Amino acid sequence: MIYNTKEILQEAKKNKYAVGAFNVINMETTQAVLEAAKEMRSPVIIQLTEKTIDYAGGKNIFSLIKNLANFYYPEIPVAIHLDHGKNFEIIKKAIALGFPSVMYDASRKSFQDNLQETKEIAQYCHKKNVSIQAELGNVPNYRELDMQNINWDDYMTKPEEAVQFVQETKIDTLAVGIGNAHSFTQERPEPDYNRLEKISQLVETPLVLHGASDWEGERVKKVIDKGISCFNIDTALRVAFTDSLVSTLTKNLEKISYDLRRTLGEARKAVKEEVKHKIKLFGSDNKI
Ligand code: G3H
Ligand code: 13P
Ligand code: ZN
Repeated sequence: MIYNTKEILQEAKKNKYAVGAFNVINMETTQAVLEAAKEMRSPVIIQLTEKTIDYAGGKNIFSLIKNLANFYYPEIPVAIHLDHGKNFEIIKKAIALGFPSVMYDASRKSFQDNLQETKEIAQYCHKKNVSIQAELGNVPNYRELDMQNINWDDYMTKPEEAVQFVQETKIDTLAVGIGNAHSFTQERPEPDYNRLEKISQLVETPLVLHGASDWEGERVKKVIDKGISCFNIDTALRVAFTDSLVSTLTKNLEKISYDLRRTLGEARKAVKEEVKHKIKLFGSDNKI
């Protein structure tokens, strides 16, 4: 059944676990997320970027997700979310398609511009009963970072700004910067746990962590304990899907007789296993 992100994440926050917001691009990745959620009895957020909407066609991919969720997995709470909406047009487009939840990302703009624009867009969303996420601080992409000279402080959320931002914009969830970066698949320094703890003491709104696909074990447990209610996961699924395809195409192609259903079916299985692993790690299993 389709929920909005706010409902799912308020429940997670109350009960101290986190929910995965998984980026999908097609039928196979969507089925993988839903099948994993069903086996693990977990709520999930399924999210699409503007690039995916352009790639798959908005009506097409939105209906596909909604139909799969409603017809095949009616017992699973599923939110469909626009990830990293960069302007008002894409937010309006997503809402017109039926998205119950969006992100407006002006995190690269000045604090004042981010606040004013987010406030205006949040009013629009709330009138339409759509929940909205925004980002403060900035979650960079590791490809644009000089890893030898990175100053993580430049990307971090300032707790005092977070209070003002949430109060004035009235957003439903807040994406934070605490040492996280998109597209990472390698070790990096420990996040700033004290900063996270301070933000979550000052701000009621559920907190979201982008760019932590490669975080495992204690680090994940610790940030959930200190206030994270949602992890955005894209890179880990891309890696699982791609590695499976490469392996099938280079090692087993003759065995599978060039049958694309078997090739893509293997990749779907690999994504499903990765999603199950994340659900267990975030502690959202057995919650429905
Ligand atoms: O942060 C979100 C995604 O990892 C970027 O994905 O290539 O679909 O825009 P995209
Ligand atoms: P990763 O690149 O770590 O998967 O982050 C995904 C993300 O934040 C999508 O919004
Ligand atoms: Zn992100």
